[in-house]
Amino acid sequence: MNLLDKMKENARRLDKRIVLPEGTEERTLEAADVLIDEGIARVTLVGKPDDVLKLARAKGLKHVEGATIVDPARHDKREEYAELLLEARKGKGMTREAALDLVLNPLYLGVLMIKGGDADGEVAGARNATGDVLRPALQVVRTRPGISVVSGAFLLLTGKAEFGEEGLLVCADCAVTPNPTAEELAQIAVSTASTARALAGIAPRVAMLSFSTKGSAVHPLADKVIRATEMAREMMPGLVIDGELQADAAIVPSVGASKAPGSPVAGRANVLVFPNLEVGNIAYKLVQRLAGAEAVGPVLQGMAAPINDLSRGCSVNDIVNLVAITANQAGNTY
Ligand code: ACO
Repeated sequence: MNLLDKMKENARRLDKRIVLPEGTEERTLEAADVLIDEGIARVTLVGKPDDVLKLARAKGLKHVEGATIVDPARHDKREEYAELLLEARKGKGMTREAALDLVLNPLYLGVLMIKGGDADGEVAGARNATGDVLRPALQVVRTRPGISVVSGAFLLLTGKAEFGEEGLLVCADCAVTPNPTAEELAQIAVSTASTARALAGIAPRVAMLSFSTKGSAVHPLADKVIRATEMAREMMPGLVIDGELQADAAIVPSVGASKAPGSPVAGRANVLVFPNLEVGNIAYKLVQRLAGAEAVGPVLQGMAAPINDLSRGCSVNDIVNLVAITANQAGNTY
């Protein structure tokens, strides 16, 4: 059974409540139909019930009636959610009127349902840009204890068993934090190791990537990666981590042995931490397009509850997969 099938199987067992705020987006609706049919999650769609059901009927989707459909304009918890929002944004100039208005925004309603205990996770972004999905989540759900920075990991299924863990590499940050400080980079390393362990079931060996290996170049950017590596060791004692390492030293055994002899990670890393978002985002897309790797994600990590952002170019299958991942995260297996 492949990794995604395992996650779907586990999601069925976990039976989590996942909110899809873009309830009238066609691919989302088709994904909801599959999710309900296959029992992968309990689905809540945000939208006017008449609109959602009309669209579902027009598309011949038979299982959407099994979703909970919530209409922001008629939600009986609108006042309660506005209070939660007011509380989360106190000191940030939020007024009661503005909070009541924001509850009408499906992306705020989704995260407020999680905050209010009415949903376990959220998947959005088929229609909305990354920033618009993330901002309400960052403002309301916020980060996990001990973590102040959210990041996005990809599970890269390279199909090349000689790399990573039987061909799997877990990489971050590819999606969220443009230019992390050394401390934020350390947090990203710790979060990615946890994601690798929980979602992929692997014992992480973390490479902190740079253009330098063990002092081969002297530069403030390499120093930042070295400091981040030390901080990550302090944050998670026992974590198998090393840096700074170049990408080839991280994943090719012969190069690792010659450039970083004695390293517990060099040549056999299965978790790659990129020094900034430019590198991470560009690298995963190149590996996906040029090497044909399957890129599963981004899986957002560091948030206090699982919220995941789709690419606007996503397929129905991408949405189904990301809901399964979100349900696994909600099972607190990450
Ligand atoms: N982790 C934790 N908290 C954060 C983070 C983060 N990475 N970024 C912002 N926040 C917090 C802020 O501190 C702020 O909190 P506060 O309002 O309580 O003080 C709140 O979230 C909102 O922050 P803003 O500054 O209003 O939001 P910003 O405009 O910085 O947007 C965002 C944050 C959306 C994450 C931004 O950094 C961004 O757009 N990142 C790039 C996303 C992207 O385009 N990725 C590439 C595409 S994805 C792909 O290709 C797979």
